[in-house]
Amino acid sequence: MERLIRKAVIPCAGLGTRFLPATKAQPKEMLPVFDRPAIQYIIEEALSARIDNIVLVTGRGKQAIENHFDKSFELEHYLKQKKQFRLLKNVENISDLTDIFYIRQKEPLGLGHAINCTRNYISNEPFAVFLADDLIYSSQPAISQLIEVYNKYQGAVLAVEEVSKEFISQYGVIKPKQIGDGVYIVEDIIEKPAAAAAPSNLGVVGRYILVPEIFNLLPKVKKGQNGEIQLTDAIRLLAKKMPVYAVKIKGKRYDTGDKLGYMKASIEYALRDKEIGAKLKNYITKL
Ligand code: G1P
Repeated sequence: MERLIRKAVIPCAGLGTRFLPATKAQPKEMLPVFDRPAIQYIIEEALSARIDNIVLVTGRGKQAIENHFDKSFELEHYLKQKKQFRLLKNVENISDLTDIFYIRQKEPLGLGHAINCTRNYISNEPFAVFLADDLIYSSQPAISQLIEVYNKYQGAVLAVEEVSKEFISQYGVIKPKQIGDGVYIVEDIIEKPAAAAAPSNLGVVGRYILVPEIFNLLPKVKKGQNGEIQLTDAIRLLAKKMPVYAVKIKGKRYDTGDKLGYMKASIEYALRDKEIGAKLKNYITKL
């Protein structure tokens, strides 16, 4: 029987050390990519796939995220008085997007631990995971591409893309067995292998459909890469119990947790904008 994916987990407790000092007093998820914070693109992607039960796993110092998705009475009042109705609509739209739930990850023990914090909220149903650093620009939202595969096979699905040897050690890497056009069974998965030990060139990017069985496995996972509880290690155990799938994402992915990736995303999202895109292109060309 087909089960709808209704819930999403977005881990947001990371300290953003790759982006200091910008992230010293500000959550990295709130850094603007062109005209909105990175986290807003992620939530818009979830909503586009009709996933509207969203839980953010946050930590200390992340209140700006809650404020962003809340009503801002003072600002709305001010914009109304100044008759700035376009801006007003834009601001109101954000708080109307959806209800968001927040769970605190009390210690930064890793992605697997963050997911495990949501077990009572997710309970017994399949769910989506979005890593907020990964923006994916595509005609079909990346998460919908995963949901299609989930609907066909009824198992966990990971988003993957081809990664060059130079960077493969920054990813969870799958050992794939191809079963369709860009669709694979995950025979094994290794978190951040050395290039020579990588089982393929297919690295996981930040979109997952997970099944509730993952919550039985996460507590069994020992500290792995970086001394953290890795989601990849729990998926490895899951793949030994039931088929886990991967799909090569059609779209352009940006790692906004990295300074260069962040700049590429900001520039390209701005270049696509109707109002300033052409002017920015002109400026960059002259540079
Ligand atoms: C996380 C995951 C990794 C995945 C990556 C994608 O790593 O642990 O398996 O390939 O996200 O962005 P992080 O980049 O948080 O170190």
